[in-house]
Amino acid sequence: AMRTYVDALLAKMTLDEKIGQLNLLTIGFDVTGPMVSKNVDENIRKGLVGGVFNTYTPNATRKLQELATKQTRLGIPLILGYDVVHGHRTIFPAPLGLAASWDMAAVERSARVAAEESSADGLNWVYSPMVDIARDPRWGRVMEGAGEDPYLGALVAAATVRGYQGPDLSANNAVMACVKHFALYGAAEAGREYNTTDMSRVRMYNEYLAPYKAAVDAGAGSLMSSFNEIDGIPATANRWLLDDLLRKEWGFKGVVVTDYASINEIPTHGYAATEAEAARQALAAGSDMDMVGETFLHHLGAAVKSGQLSEAQVTEACRRILEAKYKLGLFQDAYRGVTPARAAATMLKPEFRASARDIARKTMVLLKNERQTLPLKKSGTIALVGPLANRQRDLIGPWSAAGDWKQAVSLEQGIKNVAGNGVKVIYAKGANVIDDPQLIERLNRDNGLLDLDPRPSEQLIAEAVKAAQQADVVVAAVGEAAGMSGEAASRSDIGLPGQQLELLKALKKTGKPLVVVLMNGRPLALPWEQANADAILETWLAGTEGGNAIADVLFGAYNPAGHLTMTFPQNVGQIPIYYNHKSTGRPYDSVAPDKYKSRYLDVVNEPLYPFGFGLSYTKFSYGKPQLSKASLRPGEGLDVTVTVQNTGSYDGEEVAQLYLRDVAASVTRPVKELKGYQKIMLRKGESRTLTFHLTPDDLKFYNHDLMLGAEPGEFRVFVGPNSRDVQELSFTLQN
Ligand code: IFM
Repeated sequence: AMRTYVDALLAKMTLDEKIGQLNLLTIGFDVTGPMVSKNVDENIRKGLVGGVFNTYTPNATRKLQELATKQTRLGIPLILGYDVVHGHRTIFPAPLGLAASWDMAAVERSARVAAEESSADGLNWVYSPMVDIARDPRWGRVMEGAGEDPYLGALVAAATVRGYQGPDLSANNAVMACVKHFALYGAAEAGREYNTTDMSRVRMYNEYLAPYKAAVDAGAGSLMSSFNEIDGIPATANRWLLDDLLRKEWGFKGVVVTDYASINEIPTHGYAATEAEAARQALAAGSDMDMVGETFLHHLGAAVKSGQLSEAQVTEACRRILEAKYKLGLFQDAYRGVTPARAAATMLKPEFRASARDIARKTMVLLKNERQTLPLKKSGTIALVGPLANRQRDLIGPWSAAGDWKQAVSLEQGIKNVAGNGVKVIYAKGANVIDDPQLIERLNRDNGLLDLDPRPSEQLIAEAVKAAQQADVVVAAVGEAAGMSGEAASRSDIGLPGQQLELLKALKKTGKPLVVVLMNGRPLALPWEQANADAILETWLAGTEGGNAIADVLFGAYNPAGHLTMTFPQNVGQIPIYYNHKSTGRPYDSVAPDKYKSRYLDVVNEPLYPFGFGLSYTKFSYGKPQLSKASLRPGEGLDVTVTVQNTGSYDGEEVAQLYLRDVAASVTRPVKELKGYQKIMLRKGESRTLTFHLTPDDLKFYNHDLMLGAEPGEFRVFVGPNSRDVQELSFTLQN
């Protein structure tokens, strides 16, 4: 039926109308790129616009759809997009935190709520999930993704797509996902935004592509190409990427949209001499929709008329966009049941806020907890210090869509809500979140909400020290301002910014137990903090219910169970650092040190916190793992069993992890790769035997000819609570 409908429509369309469908403009509340669209209404009326983004609310979107459906010759509705990245009105934790939950139902639920709210606001297309594998925490966008692991990244990608799109994309409460940034954007050199990438196909296939593929297999309706080049060809104009790999090899049938003005940037990359040439290259490569740049609008007509492109190429791109609109049900009802009443009843519903709180708790990672400093007692005096202790804006983080930061629960408020009157809280800011004048200027320009205290830093610190002296315990909420991660927010120094470390050092001198609550959008380098704090809780950018969720964890209403999905380095010089690295010919062995080994003179090779790491208020002990067989015939799988016991004094959840290494292969394989995990709840004293099934597919990798297969020889299996503290076994795959 779709084919017939779209064919009939295409038959009526002029070339200009088809090209109009490929044109995506921005109008409204947000600016997310270096240029803005002009005369949007007028262009819609002329039938020259296929979609609009950055506009929401029932009234604003209705007005746009009215223009498109009532005032154009063919009445084709618009597709309406927006960067809904971790919630729409109810803001969920940053995706890097969501991944740290290792809870795919939670990930899916957060996307479902975002779909409910964004669809009720007139949107039908969200620019999410961002599934770029990221190994460089300098890159501000690591907060938008699932971290460094392709296996976990693929699960998160699929769960997010399912959450947005639901079982039926035409349902009024479903939105189309847009998987980004295709491809390899997380490998931008030096973690600098918009920078170049370059990598071998072997690495690409084995380590970077799985999450995009998983999102496509989960039925994602669209993909956004990335700003970077691949093999010297900008992704937007990369025919191998968009056509050979995505459409032919993977069978993707949906829409490819460019990133913001990325066709216009092709000449700047040095891949085309003119914008007209860039537009032709992009369409020919497989880009369907031109985001903001209007290059398709201005140049494709002439290209078809002169024979440089065929009309059929334009028709194909247009068909894919019309099909997306058809699947969304837009031809049936361009408004998809949107009314102010539905919006009012949907946004920030109590059950959505409850989900946000519940899910935020699952994302938190306990990095250190000496002498059972945590959980805190609901009595005595707490010195609550730090620039983020009473912040609402920073808690919801960047890319917080239509989230209203005034709806966010600060940590200070959360502590009051959870601990009640039994606890006395003395608040002191202690430090500004940043003190670099240039950065202040920049972030103020972006959102103007830094709330800096003009007093000298010594005075701020002294005030916090005084508060600490009167307290039983110090809770220091430190980290990054919202504007320090997200797009165009790379950092070269990933320590705590400003005077925050000085603040912690002064607090430490008081001798009071020091609990560091981290709020940040990337792994930070925290060697002093790890050595000196009594407890450290990573809370990411916890969202609308952040303060309540953090307080739930601090006071033990919830036992933390998050595990890192991105390695935390000792210092910035170790980057890129990731657990699934190669052995090299001279791996450093700290037990038998030697000069001529792969190492640094001034820092160890090990990270501060490894991938998969996360503590609990209780303790888990692992028995000796066992394999169901020591030798496999080709095509066989095996079981790995291990008994995990809760030996501590709280009920708690553990994420038991399984890693694999192919010891010798036709291309070298990583020292360890995640192949499975189980998140389990164990009551105190309880133990459970877990079985992991390794399938023949788990042993496969892409060889030098990019053929997927398993090779005979020895494999090692690792089981444990993180990628470092594992027990090892081995088996052989026979010829
Ligand atoms: O969706 C984003 C993308 O991730 C980065 N550039 C701008 C787009 C639209 O806002």
